[in-house]
Amino acid sequence: MRIGILNCGGDCPGLNAVIHGVVGAAASKGWETIGFRDGFEGLLPPGDFTFLNPKDTEGILKQGGTILGTTNKGNFAAKVGEGDIARVPQQIVDRAKKTLDQLEIGALVVVGGDGSLTTANQLYEQGWPIIGVPKTIDNDLKATSMTFGFDSAVSTVVDGLDRLYTTAQSHKRVMVLEVMGRHAGWIALWGGMAGAANVILLPEIAFTYEKVAEHLKRREAMGYTSSLVVVAEGAKNPEGHLATVDDNRGGEVRLGGIGEQVAKKIGELTGKETRSTTLGHIQRGGTPTPLDRILGIRFGVMAAQLAGEGKFGQMVSYHSYHVGSVPIKEAVEELRLVESDTEVVKAARAVGVCFGD
Ligand code: F6P
Repeated sequence: MRIGILNCGGDCPGLNAVIHGVVGAAASKGWETIGFRDGFEGLLPPGDFTFLNPKDTEGILKQGGTILGTTNKGNFAAKVGEGDIARVPQQIVDRAKKTLDQLEIGALVVVGGDGSLTTANQLYEQGWPIIGVPKTIDNDLKATSMTFGFDSAVSTVVDGLDRLYTTAQSHKRVMVLEVMGRHAGWIALWGGMAGAANVILLPEIAFTYEKVAEHLKRREAMGYTSSLVVVAEGAKNPEGHLATVDDNRGGEVRLGGIGEQVAKKIGELTGKETRSTTLGHIQRGGTPTPLDRILGIRFGVMAAQLAGEGKFGQMVSYHSYHVGSVPIKEAVEELRLVESDTEVVKAARAVGVCFGD
């Protein structure tokens, strides 16, 4: 048995733990693992790949990024806009399949987010031996209650808020922190709650600047001298518009800039000195947390197990502390978003967090 593995989409802390898990589990069964570089692109002839054995993965658990490289653009990008799905051209699929056949790959483990898994599912439907592993800091995949990378991103947000708190206190300012998460508010919600944010603005809950300003003024009247505001990059401004950087040709639209807008408006409406910080890719880089390392290893080991059982078209999933699997199709049908009446949101409201609604 020979297993292929590739990462695609944005990188994410814990990717190397998955590689470590797949390679270790495969080797223990006497199987070989081949890692393809830069996602599906590594499958295009002549093929860009490397044989991986447990010695090659020694020491990579603690490394962020991925030793195999990745891309969220190129010939295999499936999600090209909000809700737009492109089919990978047949000629590209056929060329890549040749490499798979020549190398006698019995199972191809695709570690990706919803765009890459959409591509993976298209390939599975054409007969490829695909096993999916969910990956995204955004934690927005249906059919798994957690993806690795999310915990590391949240930790970075919390660290950022802890730092912003002390400077906010010293200067009696409002600090706005823009965080990633694409069209889902999980990073903002969890990071904001754990980092004691006073206002959390999510894509899923429409806000108005007036409500945010009222809340901040009320806090000031109560004697609080500073406030922390977390805004998800995918939060829409009250006119219903996303802030975008550019159209990231060949990939999905790039979000960014809402933090500056929110800070400016808060400053105008409250008269408080307000500053904005964008965490950006700092949330994606660096050392994975222990939770993400363990989740990554378990996902990798389960992927190898599914490969051995020939359970193609399945994606590793995590529910109620157990790692299992679900059809990839189920996972990519729609995004898992924050529900505004969920218990976590209610808990945040109960401790005084304002969502701007
Ligand atoms: O999906 C992960 C993610 O980090 C999003 O949170 C963010 O919007 C996007 O990727 C950034 O992508 P890129 O690295 O292409 O700018």
